[in-house]
Amino acid sequence: MNFSKLRVALDGPSGAGKSTVAKAVAAKTGLIYVDTGSLYRTVGLYMAQHGIDAYDTEKIIAALPKVDIKLTYEDGQQCVSLCGEQVGDKIRTEQASYYASAVSKIPEVRAFLFEMQRSLAREGGCIMDGRDIGTVIMPDAEIKVFMTATAEERARRRHKEQREKGIEVSFEEVLESIIARDKQDSEREAAPLKPADDAIEFVNDGYTVETSADYIIGLMKEYLGAKV
Ligand code: DC
Repeated sequence: MNFSKLRVALDGPSGAGKSTVAKAVAAKTGLIYVDTGSLYRTVGLYMAQHGIDAYDTEKIIAALPKVDIKLTYEDGQQCVSLCGEQVGDKIRTEQASYYASAVSKIPEVRAFLFEMQRSLAREGGCIMDGRDIGTVIMPDAEIKVFMTATAEERARRRHKEQREKGIEVSFEEVLESIIARDKQDSEREAAPLKPADDAIEFVNDGYTVETSADYIIGLMKEYLGAKV
């Protein structure tokens, strides 16, 4: 089946497994996986590296013209560079997550990253994950999925991950922070986390990465089948 021009918008809260599932869909279908969270993380990294406070909105906006982000794709892998240097895992630290969440609330930051995401969307043949993909970035995507899992299920997965990394944290603490982040993401003024009116809501409690990916591929096949 030829998936090559399809655009899949995958939105949902953090911890629902969007990036892992999107990568699996991309590997099975040949679509390019675009991780939009990495862009907010990279803006955050720039601010952290330049000693700008995560909540100093004025300084963040003033610094934006100097934030030179380039995205490239090698063997289906997205590489992000900041001012000529690959960011690698530097955008995956707790500090980068904290900064990403703070800068993503600023409308000027969202506008700054808008065109980069739109130009990828125009090329098609991608599965893009984020918070506002189906509502703002690719409102015309052929497939829109709002993927979530209950807060308890996401807390269980995150708690397991952290224990495996040797981080001592209680299940209750993890659950509380997930509930707080959901609230912040859905109540913010700029591009709040909410499903597009025409998105399919997929609660993946009890699904594995494999079966979640198959569910989305099923929607893609259904779409193409209906067009024949
Ligand atoms: O998906 P992630 O955890 O890498 O996202 C990092 C932060 O960026 C998170 O706080 C939400 C924000 N984000 C956003 O506001 N819009 C997007 N399209 C993607 C991420």
